Amino acid sequence: MCSAIALRRIKKWIVIDQDEGCLNRIRQKYRLAELETVHGSVADLLRNRIDLGPIDCFYSAGLFDYLSQRLASRTVAKMFDYLRPGGLLVISNFAADSSGRDFMHAFMDWNLIYRDEREMRQLTELVPKNHFEELRVWRDELKNIIYLSLRKKTSIQSG
Ligand SMILES: C[S@@+](CC[C@H](N)C(=O)[O-])C[C@H]1O[C@@H](n2cnc3c(N)ncnc32)[C@H](O)[C@@H]1O
Repeated sequence: MCSAIALRRIKKWIVIDQDEGCLNRIRQKYRLAELETVHGSVADLLRNRIDLGPIDCFYSAGLFDYLSQRLASRTVAKMFDYLRPGGLLVISNFAADSSGRDFMHAFMDWNLIYRDEREMRQLTELVPKNHFEELRVWRDELKNIIYLSLRKKTSIQSG
């Protein structure tokens, strides 16, 4: 569905997951030379065990729902560190008032960490305020998912 991927406009596409099975599936489904898979966890990322160059866009869907507020804030700060000047970080989380929450809990035993808009904004608390220029929080069409995006400044003044 991403036209930039379909049109092969992305020079390098790095997929990180702690589950080797997910990475195998990605490799089988998308046989692209520009695709690189990295077997690693959030802990690996935070402990600098994953070697990533500067990134234009860091996109993370379906991960933050598993991370405590403190760990999630540290992860946001680490992902933001990897961005090139002008780069974009986009993350998502199921909303606290999402409509399928009780169903997921009762029938799928799927217990997530849900967040509201204020908690999503708080995830940027470890990113210095003068390092980003655009913070956006919005919901998907069905209002179940909250997105947070943060754009790194192109030049960062010290102090
Ligand atoms: C709900 S799936 C989302 C997958 C994909 N991002 C998507 O949007 O379709 C959650 C994924 O996060 C991975 N995951 C969960 N906790 C993780 C962690 N601490 N470090 C790395 N990956 C993790 C799981 O292996 C799983 O593939």
